[in-house]
Amino acid sequence: MFKGKKILLGISGSIAAYKSVLLVRQIVKGGGEVKVVMTHAAKSFVSPLTLSTLSKNPVQDELFTENTWANHVMLGRWADVMLIAPLSCNTLAKMAGGLCDNLLLATYLSATCPVIVAPAMDDDMWHHPATKRNLSLLQSYGNKVIPAQYGELASGLVGDGRMAEPGEIARFLHDHVFQSGELAGKKVLVTAGPTYEPLDPVRFIGNHSSGKMGVAIAQELVRRGAVVTLVLGPSSVKFDPSGMVVQRVQSAGEMYDACMDAFNGSDVGVMAAAVADYTPVTVEKQKIKKQAATLTLELTRSKDILKALGARKQGNQVLVGFSLETNNEQENALGKLASKNADMIVLNSLQDEGAGFGHDTNKITIFKRGGEVLTYDRKPKEAVAKDIVDQIVKMLYA
Ligand code: CTP
Repeated sequence: MFKGKKILLGISGSIAAYKSVLLVRQIVKGGGEVKVVMTHAAKSFVSPLTLSTLSKNPVQDELFTENTWANHVMLGRWADVMLIAPLSCNTLAKMAGGLCDNLLLATYLSATCPVIVAPAMDDDMWHHPATKRNLSLLQSYGNKVIPAQYGELASGLVGDGRMAEPGEIARFLHDHVFQSGELAGKKVLVTAGPTYEPLDPVRFIGNHSSGKMGVAIAQELVRRGAVVTLVLGPSSVKFDPSGMVVQRVQSAGEMYDACMDAFNGSDVGVMAAAVADYTPVTVEKQKIKKQAATLTLELTRSKDILKALGARKQGNQVLVGFSLETNNEQENALGKLASKNADMIVLNSLQDEGAGFGHDTNKITIFKRGGEVLTYDRKPKEAVAKDIVDQIVKMLYA
């Protein structure tokens, strides 16, 4: 699996460092060569002796001692990939800010090879806006993130923040670095699911979107090597988030903000979410009590994410929108292609059996800028995702 590959493993201070020991073993067993650099904090969790024995290479942890200087530049040049696992919150923040106060950071800053990180932290730290911002910064530097997972945490709590298992990290390395697909190095923003517009603490205005189509597209993009940010509305669809940064949002406003950030530096945007067109003017702090026989709600237009991205799109970015219609399908889809400055509109019509919300299948027609129209049979959403990504690849490399 890793024959002839050189992997530089950075270990920072987290209890998840015990999994790095198993990871080293797995990579070496797979024919790879591993060199380890670790922070001082990491040594409190795993011993350099264990790691040097398993990697068959000395472990380095000092930038310099009284009379030696560690050549961090050459370490970075030696490696085919630098993997930082576990990535603690502290090391993440330092990497995002460009700090250089230990060997791991100096090596990271001078590495010319691809860099992959596998964060590990507690649930609240994982969800802190500073962590999200720091991870996005790393991604904007071209680093790939193996997302933390849900599960039992060192604090005893159960939540997000658990480092991916060694087997998954090894698989990610193999799939994303050593066997890159046609979208390797491309960054893609995908939106999926419905949005919920709050009315009061217990009610919202929503829609029937399940998020299945957008998630299937995100997974297909990851499979072809892209780095995906999935901005996901309140969907309960189960999926493997490996290789994606998933940002959960509730309302159209939150989705808009997340997309405006993430689209900068992206090569492609795929807007598969069913975004509410209107949102309540006021959100009541207390539950609305029933009184008169009728109730009038005042709604205001929500911001159109696809349109806003279409307006700021740079020449080399590809923007894909969806169009869910019940009538005048072709005319409406073509209208959206033009008015939202998209490169491609994927039409699904509720007139077609097995198409649209909630189904495991979909039937689409693709309208491309330039006039090409492609019609497809009804298929499982995973197969539809392949068709859509095929067309994205074509547009990207046209
Ligand atoms: N969209 C968006 N932001 C909105 C509304 C829609 O980004 N506030 C995107 C959807 O994700 C989709 C496309 O715009 O990619 C078309 O969405 P659709 O609901 O079909 O059309 P609308 O623009 O809402 O127009 P209409 O309601 O008139 O059909």
